[in-house]
Amino acid sequence: MMEINEKYKVKITGQENSGQGVSKIDDMIVFVENGLPDDEGEVLITEIKKNYARGRMVSFNQTSSSKQEAPCPFYNECGGCDLQHQLYKDQLAFKEDKIKTALTRIGGFNNVLINKIIFDEQFYYRNKVTLKVDGEQLGFYKRNTNEIVEIDNCIISNEKINEIIKMLKTFVRHYNKNNFKSIMIRYSDALMISVDSRNDKLSSELVAFLINKISNIKSISLNNKIIYGENYIEEKIDNLTFKLSPTSFYQVNINVMKKLYCKTIEYVTKIENKTILDLYCGIGTISILLANHAKSVVGIEMVKSAVDNAIDNLAINGINNVMFIHGKVEKSLDLLEEETVDTIVMDPPRNGVDKKTLDTIIKINPQQIVYISCNPATLARDLKILSEHKYELVEVTPFDMFPQTNHVECVVLLYKKS
Ligand SMILES: C[S@@+](CC[C@H](N)C(=O)[O-])C[C@H]1O[C@@H](n2cnc3c(N)ncnc32)[C@H](O)[C@@H]1O
Repeated sequence: MMEINEKYKVKITGQENSGQGVSKIDDMIVFVENGLPDDEGEVLITEIKKNYARGRMVSFNQTSSSKQEAPCPFYNECGGCDLQHQLYKDQLAFKEDKIKTALTRIGGFNNVLINKIIFDEQFYYRNKVTLKVDGEQLGFYKRNTNEIVEIDNCIISNEKINEIIKMLKTFVRHYNKNNFKSIMIRYSDALMISVDSRNDKLSSELVAFLINKISNIKSISLNNKIIYGENYIEEKIDNLTFKLSPTSFYQVNINVMKKLYCKTIEYVTKIENKTILDLYCGIGTISILLANHAKSVVGIEMVKSAVDNAIDNLAINGINNVMFIHGKVEKSLDLLEEETVDTIVMDPPRNGVDKKTLDTIIKINPQQIVYISCNPATLARDLKILSEHKYELVEVTPFDMFPQTNHVECVVLLYKKS
């Protein structure tokens, strides 16, 4: 019988979904923190459940050729990254394999064309962070807890965000007195700071501090109210401009986002004649990029600030063949059931597309579907339903939108079977 706090000999044979090592002791699966394929040694068991156990390596006889020293000093505690101990080329292979496994095991697809994963910079790529604050502490949550790990640098966030993190640490030390809960910083073309606080009283000190210390702030909000500048920033994609409010979604990795959007447009064939639906459209980036080539586009989005941005973005970019609907896709799509639609592009959140929406999509009967997903498991589940109803999965292109973490993005092309 396996016992907690005991050590056992193990060999790691694979990685589970979140990147942890997988091994077997007798018939029990053991997930090993930061374990990599071919690691061999002793594991200390930290948790035992009915069907699996968890542990961490305490000594090695052999280390995986994938292993590297994590470059971030906070890595072992901070919950932000989970693959820094693995060489980047092997992180990419892990992600390709994770997609293949989900498509096979959940979707039942055995011979799908999965292209090589597309990637860009492996560090300093994030344009947005949300720092947790408690008293004088500022940082990210420890893995699987609500305890803060204090940081003064984050190697997956861009340089400007790192500069601001250092300044905010001083501010929190002097003024916080337990008021702030979290601080969101967003920076790529312009800088936005959004603070969630237990009260609204600190606003004048906050504005004075931030605008004195940090140049070019375009927007500061406190508890969802603008206290300095505008309630949006403007971002550029090629020669287009997009307004973006604090509560609107925007991809966190600009270089990979641009590659992903290019692939999405490339997948929409004979685009000039097409009527397109862009489901879960956010601030309308994909709708507007497609509109420049297509006959017309309708976007659906449930967050009001994002739809308001999307509508403004039409005027800013002189687009007149796009319409946006504010509402949940599962309800609003019913309005379009009788319309003729050539292509549906959809980019849902992690939980994927609900069954009712998939049924409506099948009724709408587009020639082509382009499915963008940040979760291979829900993607595979939804693709299975579409493939059981007249859609053929043509190919999948993975994107490393989130280097150093276990997360991966995909764009998938489906065609109606002839
Ligand atoms: C992954 S983001 C994609 C946004 C956009 N395609 C982009 O590239 O920026 C998903 C978007 O779906 C929206 N959303 C989530 N659930 C929704 C629902 N049930 N109906 C409509 N929009 C939804 C979110 O607010 C978010 O803007």
